[in-house]
Amino acid sequence: MSNSITEATATPYLTLRDLRVSYGSVEALHSINITVNQGEIVTILGANGAGKTTTLMSISGLLRPTHGEILFQGEALHTLPPHVIVQRGITQSPEGRRVFGTMSVLENLQLGAYTRKNADEAAKNLQWIFELFPRLEERASQLAGTLSGGEQQMLAIGRALMGCPRVLLLDEPSLGLAPILVQFIFDTIKAINKTGMTVILVEQNARAALKLADRGYVLEVGKVVLEDTAPNLLANPEVQNAYLGGQRD
Ligand SMILES: Nc1ncnc2c1ncn2[C@@H]1O[C@H](COP(=O)(O)OP(=O)(O)OP(=O)(O)O)[C@@H](O)[C@H]1O
Ligand SMILES: [Mg+2]
Repeated sequence: MSNSITEATATPYLTLRDLRVSYGSVEALHSINITVNQGEIVTILGANGAGKTTTLMSISGLLRPTHGEILFQGEALHTLPPHVIVQRGITQSPEGRRVFGTMSVLENLQLGAYTRKNADEAAKNLQWIFELFPRLEERASQLAGTLSGGEQQMLAIGRALMGCPRVLLLDEPSLGLAPILVQFIFDTIKAINKTGMTVILVEQNARAALKLADRGYVLEVGKVVLEDTAPNLLANPEVQNAYLGGQRD
C-alpha cells in the first residue's frame, strides 16, 4: 500500500453514488457505489459486458448518469462537460488504445497536454513520460498508426499522463499484449502511482490487477457484487473460481 492512503482515508476522494447509466432504454449500470481514496490503485473487475468501460466513461463525463452522482473532492462531476473534467485532473486511457494513427507519436502526446498552460511544466512532464516509456522517445516522429500494439498502448497511457492528472483511468491497459509487456505495463502503473497519482484500473487480467491494486470492485451485469481489499479478493474462493481460473494464489 502506498503511504498516501493512510493520510487520505478520512475524505473520500472520488465517489460514485447510486449511479445508474443507460444506453437508450437499456440500463447498463444499476445503482453502483464506488469510492476511491487519494493515492490508491483501485481495480474494477468483471466479465465482458459487466459495465467496466461504462463506469470509466461516466467518470470522464462521456456518458451521463440517469440517476445518482459522481463527486470529486466534494464537487459534482456528473454535470460537467468532459473537457472540464480533464481540467479538474481526471484523464482516461481508453480501451483499444485509440491513438491518432496519421499523427506522430509526439503530436499524439502534445494533444494530451491541451489543458496545460505552463510550457516548462509541460516539457518536464513530457520528459518524465519518456523516462517511463523510452520507446516513445525513440519513436517520437513515427506515425502512431505504424506503432506495434504494445507501443500504441504506451502512447495511450502517455497521452493520458500529459494532462498531469490527479486521477488516471486505465481501461484494459494490458489487453492483447505479450506477457513480458504486460509485466512492463503493470510495473509502470505502479511507478506512476508511486508519484502520488490515484489510479482506477479496469482489467481482464484479474490476478495481475489484484496484485497491483490496493482495493477492488467486482461488477456483474451492471452491479457491484463484491468489494474488498485486493489481498482479500485474491484469497476469495468466489473470485478465484470466476476470475482467477479457479487457482489459489
Ligand atoms: N454504445 C452502446 N450502446 C448500447 N449498449 C452499450 C453501448 N456500450 C456498451 N453497451 C452495453 O452496456 C453493457 C456494459 O458494457 P461495457 O462496455 O461497459 O462493458 P465492459 O465491462 O467494459 O465489457 P468488456 O470487458 O467487454 O470491455 C453491455 O451490455 C454493452 O452491450
Ligand atoms: Mg470495456
